[in-house]
Amino acid sequence: MVRFEHVTSDGTELVFREPVKGEAKALMSFINSFVDEPMSGLLIDKKVSLRGEEKWLESRLDEMRSRSTVMLLAERDGRVVGSCHMTRLPWKHSHRADIGVALKLEIRGKGVGEALMRRTMDLGIRRFRGLETVELSAFAYNDRALALYKKLGFEECARIPRSAKEGRTYFDEVLMRLDLPYVSRGRKSMRGR
Ligand SMILES: CC(C)(COP(=O)(O)OP(=O)(O)OC[C@H]1O[C@@H](n2cnc3c(N)ncnc32)[C@H](O)[C@@H]1OP(=O)(O)O)[C@@H](O)C(=O)NCCC(=O)NCCS
Repeated sequence: MVRFEHVTSDGTELVFREPVKGEAKALMSFINSFVDEPMSGLLIDKKVSLRGEEKWLESRLDEMRSRSTVMLLAERDGRVVGSCHMTRLPWKHSHRADIGVALKLEIRGKGVGEALMRRTMDLGIRRFRGLETVELSAFAYNDRALALYKKLGFEECARIPRSAKEGRTYFDEVLMRLDLPYVSRGRKSMRGR
């Protein structure tokens, strides 16, 4: 299993690792924590059940085995506090992958998003042969996410007006893409190894 240790500048110790079978409960409590947060940055607005999360995890683990998804969890004191996955698109889109990242409130703003995304992208670029582009989307209000993605080299390529609705409020969505290779920790990432 891929595993990295990460220490933030304020000394918070984290482990980045791949998910394993049997941890749907921890993942369910992680993802459900975003449902009660207004403007959480995520699409989810209804809590998922344990059965739903078990099925979701099973599919992700299948995709990891077939090398179409890479995923890293951030763990703090044995609790899941962050997640990042990168999934290769199928067929004639297979030179593209999309990426998503989410951290619990307690570890935001400490550079963890950047570190977790860089690790996940490095892994995906190594495992997905022939990958050319990484894509993502963020709500236009999500200044921190947009700042992070720009810092990593993503560029806006489209905008969907009123893409999401929370209560009576609509939010635009920004689509961004990054053409590979990208520079990670001062060196050129290898493409398609
Ligand atoms: C978005 C998210 C992944 C960013 O990760 P993070 O670890 O909190 O972000 P970082 O600490 O790496 O900060 C990234 C950059 O954003 C900028 N930033 C930080 N806080 C900011 C704020 N409140 N407003 C604007 N920019 C901000 C900083 O400039 C930072 O760059 P720096 O390293 O040059 O200072 C994380 O906050 C998160 O999970 N939020 C909730 C879920 C979410 O929105 N997911 C993304 C969906 S698209």
